[in-house]
Amino acid sequence: MEKIVSLCKRRGFVFPNSEIYGGMNALYDYGPLGALLRKNIFDLWWRKMVTEREDVFGIDGRIILHPKVWEASGHVSGFADALVEDKKTHKRYAADKLIEEQLNLSVKSNDIEAISGLIKGGKLKSPEGNELTMPKNFNLLVPAYLGTVEGEKTQVYLKGESCQNIYVNFKQVFESMHKPLPFGIAQVGRAFRNEITSSGQFLFRQKEFDQMDVQYFCRPEDSSRFYEDWKTIRWNWYLNDLGLSEKRLKWRQHADEERAFYAKDAWDITYDFEGMGFKELEGLHDRGDYDLSQHQKFSGEDLSYFDPETKRKFIPFVVESSAGFDRNFLAILFEAYREDGERVYLKLKPYLAPYQAAVFPLLANKPQLVEKAREVYEVLKKQSGLNIVWDERGNIGKRYYSQDEIGTPFCVTIDFETLENNTVTVRDRDTAKQERVGLGDLKLYLIDKIIL
Ligand code: GAP
Repeated sequence: MEKIVSLCKRRGFVFPNSEIYGGMNALYDYGPLGALLRKNIFDLWWRKMVTEREDVFGIDGRIILHPKVWEASGHVSGFADALVEDKKTHKRYAADKLIEEQLNLSVKSNDIEAISGLIKGGKLKSPEGNELTMPKNFNLLVPAYLGTVEGEKTQVYLKGESCQNIYVNFKQVFESMHKPLPFGIAQVGRAFRNEITSSGQFLFRQKEFDQMDVQYFCRPEDSSRFYEDWKTIRWNWYLNDLGLSEKRLKWRQHADEERAFYAKDAWDITYDFEGMGFKELEGLHDRGDYDLSQHQKFSGEDLSYFDPETKRKFIPFVVESSAGFDRNFLAILFEAYREDGERVYLKLKPYLAPYQAAVFPLLANKPQLVEKAREVYEVLKKQSGLNIVWDERGNIGKRYYSQDEIGTPFCVTIDFETLENNTVTVRDRDTAKQERVGLGDLKLYLIDKIIL
């Protein structure tokens, strides 16, 4: 983790939030290269979950919703974690995380009785080995206030889970898109949680993060089948699209006592973050009719569906895929990070890399090489649809190393031979092998190797 954090800061992937003011706990910003990688991940997810499918529509909802949404969803009353305090150091901890770390047991994060039992029985201590206070529940929702007149402000919440826009917009999507069940609604969106965090978790547990959600609406009798389908679809995302290795991926089913209040069944896809063990990347939940029933009850709107085939009226069931974007990002970096002697390189899938090719002149002090290289760069940048970067700092060896470290899969060098016969060298990041390619073929050569 330390190597990844250091690379992220040094090379502009991820910065501590508000660092000049001393930073904010459990909040990070994405820098120039992080923003590019981030966009590539979002675009790929959107393409796979929305564009390439006929049965999923994408939406883009706000962070702020009517406060009643969070009452209906159950978050105001049920979205809580139990907090315990070290009696000596007064440091606070999320009890369920301590229990998982120390006793390798799963408990529901707000199960006061079970947690108290473990503390009373002397089984659970603080990480420093001190006694803990009895647990107290606190709500994870982050409140905010809207309105200009003091005393007349409305209390709202920043989204505790991003998917709530999807449920409250279900009827409007159905009516505007005229698609009978089954269909899904997808969204990339922010979520905010007042998490109790320990240090060293980097992007893994933050107070503001992004979720990539698909909520799939179907007939009650079809939900088990679609739940299995979506488990396969999402497993393949990690294995094939992101290229994570199979041995570092594992399923984990939630035990009854640990499952979130809205889920009938819940499975996580976990990834082996070296040093942290297998940790959740995504939750797949069989949510039944919980969400639409609750919103129907609290809003008074009829959210039922009339099935033209069976002539039945019912509340659709929901199968949820909720992937943590920031954890996807981190897993991609863990998987890609390689050391080969002096050389550090990121073996990213070429379509995910922040820059897909770098272009440079062999020597930066030879105007004829620079001029030709700039020509090649401008054409590729404007016509290939790829992210191309110009680099002329230091010598060629340093440039290769520098591009390797940020995962650029191909480096294109313009040398004296280029001036004679219009060919360039293309160096492959993973093998460090070079190939001569004609300028006329270069664009298609790169596109063919990069685009999925
Ligand atoms: N709508 C369902 C839902 O929100 P969740 O399991 O609480 O389910 C889904 O969250 C995903 O969001 C998790 O699998 C995880 O990847 C990510 N996530 C949750 N809390 C997070 C946090 N504090 N920081 C970063 N990612 C988080």
